[in-house]
Amino acid sequence: MCGIVGYVGNEHAASILIEGLKKLEYRGYDSAGIAVINNKEINMIKASGKIKNLCEKTDDGKSISGTIGIAHTRWATHGAPNDANAHPHVSNNKKFAVVHNGIIENYMELKKELLDKGYKFNSETDTEVIVHLLDMYYDKDFKIALMKTISRLEGSYALGVICKDYPDTMFAAMLNSPLIIGVGVCENYFASDVTALVQRTKNVIYIEEGDFAEISSNTILIYSNTGEPVTREKTRIVWDVEAAEKGGYEHFMLKEIMEQPRAIKSAIEPRIKKGCISFEDSNIPTDLLEGISRISITACGSAYHAACAGKYMIEELARIPVDVDLASEFRYRRPIIDKSTLVIVISQSGETADTIAALKEAKENGASVLAIVNVVGSAISKLADYVIYTWAGPEIAVATTKGYTTQVTVLCLLSVYLAEKNKKIDAETALRLTSEIQKIPQLAQRAIDLNPQIPYLAKKYHNERSMFFIGRNTDYAVCLEGSLKLKEISYIHSEAYAAGELKHGTIALIDNDRLVVALACNDRLLDKLISNIREVKARGAKVLGVITERSTKIIPETDDIIYIPVGETLFNAVVQVIPLQMFAYYVALHNGCDIDKPKNLAKSVTVE
Ligand code: BG6
Repeated sequence: MCGIVGYVGNEHAASILIEGLKKLEYRGYDSAGIAVINNKEINMIKASGKIKNLCEKTDDGKSISGTIGIAHTRWATHGAPNDANAHPHVSNNKKFAVVHNGIIENYMELKKELLDKGYKFNSETDTEVIVHLLDMYYDKDFKIALMKTISRLEGSYALGVICKDYPDTMFAAMLNSPLIIGVGVCENYFASDVTALVQRTKNVIYIEEGDFAEISSNTILIYSNTGEPVTREKTRIVWDVEAAEKGGYEHFMLKEIMEQPRAIKSAIEPRIKKGCISFEDSNIPTDLLEGISRISITACGSAYHAACAGKYMIEELARIPVDVDLASEFRYRRPIIDKSTLVIVISQSGETADTIAALKEAKENGASVLAIVNVVGSAISKLADYVIYTWAGPEIAVATTKGYTTQVTVLCLLSVYLAEKNKKIDAETALRLTSEIQKIPQLAQRAIDLNPQIPYLAKKYHNERSMFFIGRNTDYAVCLEGSLKLKEISYIHSEAYAAGELKHGTIALIDNDRLVVALACNDRLLDKLISNIREVKARGAKVLGVITERSTKIIPETDDIIYIPVGETLFNAVVQVIPLQMFAYYVALHNGCDIDKPKNLAKSVTVE
């Protein structure tokens, strides 16, 4: 996820744009840039690293004159975070400049077409195709050039464009990526979200999917994707700046929980081509499994829990043995790995020291390493042989939510991909499972909508001395993550336990002072779970059941219920965890905890 901002008016554009970028930094912060029209020329400056580097290069924008411009802060998806890949991108003739948030999924074919026509590319980004298309279609009419350009784009874009032939007008366009228009007095704006504008104006226009806007200091013309003029209502923002950074949510964690349907969609969509799974956006060789006899997955924290879910999925479908290890253990136990082992490392930050060390251990032993990471250009993404990005966008809250669910989403895709490669499922089954995966984003939204009672449940149980999460198969893997979420942000002790194992000792702790969260979303094992629930109920425990909408027979066995929408059981982990994240969030809220920055924790532990 990146941040874009544009300004046209009578004031010093660069200073206003830089201030806007600072407010968007939470959206991405690995490089930034600005382009302003002055004396009918585009003046552009870019800087890798945090926005402060761009501020130093431009004296907070003061060194760039002009009253119309665009700016961008980047969360890299295509191409490492460096000056060349930073936005804005300009056409070869320096006539156009563009900033973009989103993913142009057909950029490879567009790039080939443009290269064949002699256009020179200066970056590895997907975005750069936009500015060369504009140049190719430009015949003195900016609007026509823009319409023809966006008609060629597939995927998602929130983009802003300036043209030196039009020193008073900028264009903005939006498809599947947030963009708003800011309405000022003798000045107007566009931005990725209100955060960048709310200090300058609280009057905004939320344009609709496919719309584009022609913006000058005194006029805003909006067109639908067919080029028809349309009217979109002006809205008044009631948030303050602090609230706006969180999209109106009280905490980044809640915002990131709620944006999971979109994040999960970002992890899925670029990997589905004509109903089939393709990792062509990653550097995975088609013969990935050649000579591979087993898989070893290693990670830390929530990423390790994602690995646990991945074990069940890959073994069930691909029938390849999968070991899962905590990276801190893996690196010191002299693991038995060689070139016949595919090692998968999972990391949101791509900077966790234990995971990096485990990756190096794997490579020293001759294994191929596939990384599943969120941060482009991170240490792990550079050290691994192959990389699959989760494309969750920046995750600010220390306790991961969308980082985890997008990791599990990638593992769902990978399990089907490996199963087909390993000839354990036929093409028809692969198509069916792939379509089940494509349902996950709306199931994730439904998991949120199905459970308005969670704040009430959190209030009811927020004083519990400790909690147990029990489940079987992938439900157990989700228990691990649900339990960690509760501990991380509410500081209530909890344990995740394989439901069938509780009776072998730990059930001694169960009494009428314990809450047991029972995950029962696996129909095949439902009766077993009911027996386990009866075991703990018989010893006085309260039971919060987490069930699918169809497993109603368990309801009489429980004290309270959280509902999960019905989906492919094997892929349940992505959706099931969301109400548990919300439960942990609201318990912590009741306990007055610092939810986004819990005590003792770090977003990424880059030391041993
Ligand atoms: C911990 C974080 O420090 O590291 C967890 O608090 C995270 O949220 C774990 O799951 C692993 O981090 P990463 O970046 O390697 O996934």
